[in-house]
Amino acid sequence: MLSQEEMKRMAAEKAVELVPENEYIGIGTGSTVNLFVEALGKSGKKIKGAVATSKRTSELMAKCGIPEVQLSEVSKLAIYVDGADEINHTLQMIKGGGAALLAEKIVASASEQFVCIADESKYVSRLGKFPLPVEVIPLSRSLVSRRLVALGGNPELRLDCTTASGHQIVDVHNLDLSKPLTMEEELNKIPGVVENGLFARHPADVLVLGTQKGVEVLKIR
Ligand code: 5RP
Repeated sequence: MLSQEEMKRMAAEKAVELVPENEYIGIGTGSTVNLFVEALGKSGKKIKGAVATSKRTSELMAKCGIPEVQLSEVSKLAIYVDGADEINHTLQMIKGGGAALLAEKIVASASEQFVCIADESKYVSRLGKFPLPVEVIPLSRSLVSRRLVALGGNPELRLDCTTASGHQIVDVHNLDLSKPLTMEEELNKIPGVVENGLFARHPADVLVLGTQKGVEVLKIR
């Protein structure tokens, strides 16, 4: 029986094969991404540079010899590689468990292809067991929380967590995410919400999934 770590590593190593040489890429944040960064460094594959979505990723990239560029320095990213907290069968995701969702959504949207890497526990038929992270401006936290309750959710402030942009994260339990696209847009209309962790408007293009039976590469279009 493979461990979750082993399945993550299989997905991360397979994703390195999808990285084109001589291009700029984007790299997400999290434990699966860390394995990808290490594997990319070891592969000797030559990329022009990578945009990191967090200090943690940036520091690991430096250790692994991956050149960093800022998003403002490049006009196009060939691919974006990142993990997910949940991903459904149309490759819509919940992200933000690592509090980097704002940078992740920005860098993903600047990329031509989103490659999600995950172990099989993340692949679900319905999003929403994992509480949805919502990034808020501190001033608006109570207001936003009341609106989230009105939408049927149970908001919980993530303690000891300030995002890279100085915001707070509210994790929302029990929201009805049966229409992920609608909910993604509704949440971002609440004043004080900076971004939320639903990636439905721009789902992944490819899912590289580490499973007990090996690696599967899934595409929906
Ligand atoms: C960080 C994220 C991560 O991609 C997500 O939390 C998955 O992390 P891990 O690879 O550690 O399971 O969205 O904000």
